[in-house]
This record gives sequence, C-alpha cells and structure tokens, in this order.
Amino acid sequence: MIQFRSVTKKYKNDNYALRNVNLDILSGEFVFIVGASGAGKSTLMKLLYNEERPTSGTVTIGGINIANLPNDKVPNLRRCMGIVFQDYKLLQNQTIYDNVAYVIRTLGISSKEINARVSGALKIVGLYDKMNATPSELSGGEQQRVGIARAIVNGPPLLIADEPTGNLDPKNSMEIMQILDQINQRGITVIVSTHDNAMVDYFRKRVITLDNGEVVRDIQAGTYE
Ligand SMILES: Nc1ncnc2c1ncn2[C@@H]1O[C@H](COP(=O)(O)OP(=O)(O)O)[C@@H](O)[C@H]1O
Ligand SMILES: [Mg+2]
Repeated sequence: MIQFRSVTKKYKNDNYALRNVNLDILSGEFVFIVGASGAGKSTLMKLLYNEERPTSGTVTIGGINIANLPNDKVPNLRRCMGIVFQDYKLLQNQTIYDNVAYVIRTLGISSKEINARVSGALKIVGLYDKMNATPSELSGGEQQRVGIARAIVNGPPLLIADEPTGNLDPKNSMEIMQILDQINQRGITVIVSTHDNAMVDYFRKRVITLDNGEVVRDIQAGTYE
C-alpha cells in the first residue's frame, strides 16, 4: 500500500529530518513509528498526508507517487486517509456531531447519509451519547476519540495518528490504542507514531524505529527497545 524509496527530507535550515528511508507498509498492517523527540516521526507522517514533500526519493500510496503530487490533487489524497493529531484539532464552538460531520458535508451526500455515517463513527469510539456536547465538555481522552471518529467517518483505507496519546494519561492512552487496534481489525491500515514504550510493548505490533532521521530497526511483533 505504501512505499518509501530513498526518501530524504531536509528542511530549509539544512536540518535533515529523514535520511534515505526505505519502507514498505502493506494494506491492513498496524505499524508503530517510534523514536526520540526530533527523530523524524512527524516528518514521516507529514510526507504521507502531503503536508511536506521529500527533498529526494519517492513516497507511493496505492501506486501513486505523491512526492510531486499537483496541489489540486491533495484534497483527493486526504479523502483516502484519516489523520489524528496529538492536540485533537477540534472546532471548539461546534458540537461533537458537527466536528465529525464537517469532513463529509462537502461530499454532496444526503443529510440522512451524513447522519448514518456520523452516528456509526461515534458508536465505534463510544461517544454516540455525547454527540450534542462541545469539546470543552469532554475529557482529553474523549476529545481524542472525537478526533478518531472524524478521521474514520469517510471510511478511509488508511489511518495516520501522530502521537495520538501524547497528551493523555496511561488509562486514556490505553483506551485510544484499543480503539485504533479495533479499527485496524476492520481492515484499515493504521500507522501510529508514539514514544509511549508501555503501549508499544503491550500491543506487540510491527515497530519501526527512527533515530536521527534514519530507520534503525524494523521488526514484527516488537517492543519499544
Ligand atoms: N518545519 C521545520 N523546519 C525546520 N526543521 C524542522 C521542521 N520540522 C521539523 N524539523 C526538524 O526535523 C527533525 C525531525 O523533526 P520531527 O519530524 O518533528 O521529529 P519527531 O516527530 O520525531 O519529534 C528535528 O530536528 C526538527 O527540529
Ligand atoms: Mg513529532
């Protein structure tokens, strides 16, 4: 599903964030991307959702090289993936329902269909009964569950989560990871960056370790170290 070939990313200030990264991620996999702060995790994620472009090399998703994707094709690419952020990025003045519905309101589908999809996504994350609340009325863990519902409401084949539990305590982190695991079991490819070693050790998924922009380890059913 995803291929990185000789991917290097250098930011303007000559910071090498990724160095000659080669990776294959198969459809249906659950992958942890781990490494210290500054190792390049977020950059790798940003290349996937085309927030950044590689300095050299190719990033291919579903057979399409997105390294030089024309700007007008980026919305199409993003519709094929859900993205979850550490800081949730919810619209504070809108209800949970509207936060999740937002992304599919532009697709020209009926309000009945929107309602069905939003309800389904909120049920998966266990927040169906909070759809009329606003983000400030929810705990951090609940807000992140809204972020996940928003990411999956359009039924994407790929879910990307950059440090989704970075602001959460261990109990809430575990709940979020379990939801991501369940989503993966529905057949969605899930890529999660984290430096939460307890989570990585518990779930025993594929672990790709970045160090100073390089892939230094890539093992199946792995632990953090
Ligand atoms: N927009 C940017 N401009 C310049 N340097 C950046 C930028 N984003 C990240 N970096 C640098 O790239 C390296 C990798 O950063 P990042 O991908 O955010 O790592 P991580 O998510 O693992 O903490 C770091 O040295 C960071 O300072
Ligand atoms: Mg990061």
